[in-house]
Amino acid sequence: MAARAAALLAAILLGALGAARRADAAIGVNWGTVSSHRAPPGVVVDLMRANRISKVKLFDADPGVLRALAGSGIQVMVGVTNGELASIAGSQAAADAWVAQNVSRYVGRGGVDIRYIAVGNEPFLTSYQGQFESYIIPAMTNIQQSLVKANLASYVKLVVPCNADAYESASVPSQGVFRAELTQIMTQLAAFLSSSGAPFIVNIYPFLSLYQNSDFPQDYAFFEGSTHPLVDGPNVYYNAFDGNFDTLVSALGKIGYGNLPIAIGEIGWPTEGAPSANLTAARAFNQGLINRITSNKGTPLRPGVPPADVYLFSLLDEEQKSILPGNFERHWGIFSFDGQAKYPLNLGLGNSVLKNAKEVPYLPSRWCVANPARNLDSVSDHMKLACSMADCTTLYYGGSCYGIGQKGNVSYAFNSYYQQQKQDPNSCDFGGLGLRKPRCSFIVLEAARRAGSSCRRSKRGRMSPSAAVPASSTGTLK
Ligand SMILES: *[C@@H]1O[C@H](CO)[C@@H](O)[C@H](O)[C@H]1NC(C)=O
Ligand SMILES: *[C@@H]1O[C@H](CO)[C@@H](O)[C@H](O)[C@H]1NC(C)=O
Ligand SMILES: *[C@@H]1O[C@H](CO)[C@@H](O)[C@H](O)[C@H]1NC(C)=O
Repeated sequence: MAARAAALLAAILLGALGAARRADAAIGVNWGTVSSHRAPPGVVVDLMRANRISKVKLFDADPGVLRALAGSGIQVMVGVTNGELASIAGSQAAADAWVAQNVSRYVGRGGVDIRYIAVGNEPFLTSYQGQFESYIIPAMTNIQQSLVKANLASYVKLVVPCNADAYESASVPSQGVFRAELTQIMTQLAAFLSSSGAPFIVNIYPFLSLYQNSDFPQDYAFFEGSTHPLVDGPNVYYNAFDGNFDTLVSALGKIGYGNLPIAIGEIGWPTEGAPSANLTAARAFNQGLINRITSNKGTPLRPGVPPADVYLFSLLDEEQKSILPGNFERHWGIFSFDGQAKYPLNLGLGNSVLKNAKEVPYLPSRWCVANPARNLDSVSDHMKLACSMADCTTLYYGGSCYGIGQKGNVSYAFNSYYQQQKQDPNSCDFGGLGLRKPRCSFIVLEAARRAGSSCRRSKRGRMSPSAAVPASSTGTLK
């Protein structure tokens, strides 16, 4: 009897633990706002709620965004930007002010459920050449002190989203180590996180591995098994995510924190801007990832223990992001800039498909196209201007409007600029080469017919990612 009772108790406990773990390992999203026409924050919050998304990661602490999140029940990570690190690291008063302005005034009953503060964003990125490294621990120490004073320290935790380039391996995941120059700071960071019960946050991008390395086995980037599994002693890796994750587990183990919880701060797949960035691949990757996480399989080094949280990158497209990394950079959203689902996706949160944003305010359906009566020989400077301000990335190889011909190109670029300028009549001049149209021209429709996603959207009256303009952003452009 006693044995049976003990077994029953164990089963109940295990069941309860399992349930708690499942409840904790949630799929969240990143909400970035590098857009000239942002959907109103309230529309975006409603979009998340309709899709039962309960965790969101922000890159700053935008007052409009935070006000919209108040009372939503959504758990929020706000961010100290890299540019703010130096002053906060150097001054307790600056840290106090930051917490007062960007955290304290939002929390409380009916307020914003801020759970994490990200101290910097990928501050150890190799390309920053160490410029932020020395600020991280002092900034964390100061902000922690501010949280204690504000009586928030037991609720709001500090984290540091790291790029996966913080660690490396000469061969297999078990050989993972932090970059030599980061060993000391990572040890301090891990100690800090461990003592406050916060996870190590890492951004993992199999897409970039594939994009940057022509030898990278295509199927290893996804989750359907690989013809190129990676054998590491007793462990076999069938996908890049598991391999990368366990490389971090090994690196943490080598500095004495092999059991530190890990959350994924950013992960995703873009839908255009490179040949391997397309709707099919993005859907396959994100669905494969979600299925993998929600199955609670874990990885060979952490079997049965999925990451603490996984924040998809990204909720929405951001058409003003720098394209230095590549044209794909503006196309990471599972939703377009205006909250329309790009492909079917089951987030594992209760809805079997994505629900679109409702009540998105658009500008009227008006267009700017290449004047068919004009010779376009002198168009290139106008194109350059339009595309330097507005988004033309879909016109390039790997973009959904690639190959729509010169007139299509020009119309797309002119229109993109005209919409970005909120349909200001003067923004469709282009030395007489532009022509305003009350509706979609033949050229545009023809382009739309021939091309893929973004182009196809023009049939619904939204030609480019910046074509439809939320009316509420008719104020100053960002
Ligand atoms: C913190 O709040 C201040 C005041 O609203 C704002 O100027 C600053 O940009 C905020 N910081 C971030 C990272 O959003
Ligand atoms: C989409 O991307 C995948 C993954 O890289 C690639 O295998 C496939 O050929 C691409 N599809 C198209 C239509 O370009
Ligand atoms: C359209 O623009 C893209 C991107 O600049 C370019 O690669 C392509 O050749 C252009 N097509 C024509 C017909 O000009």
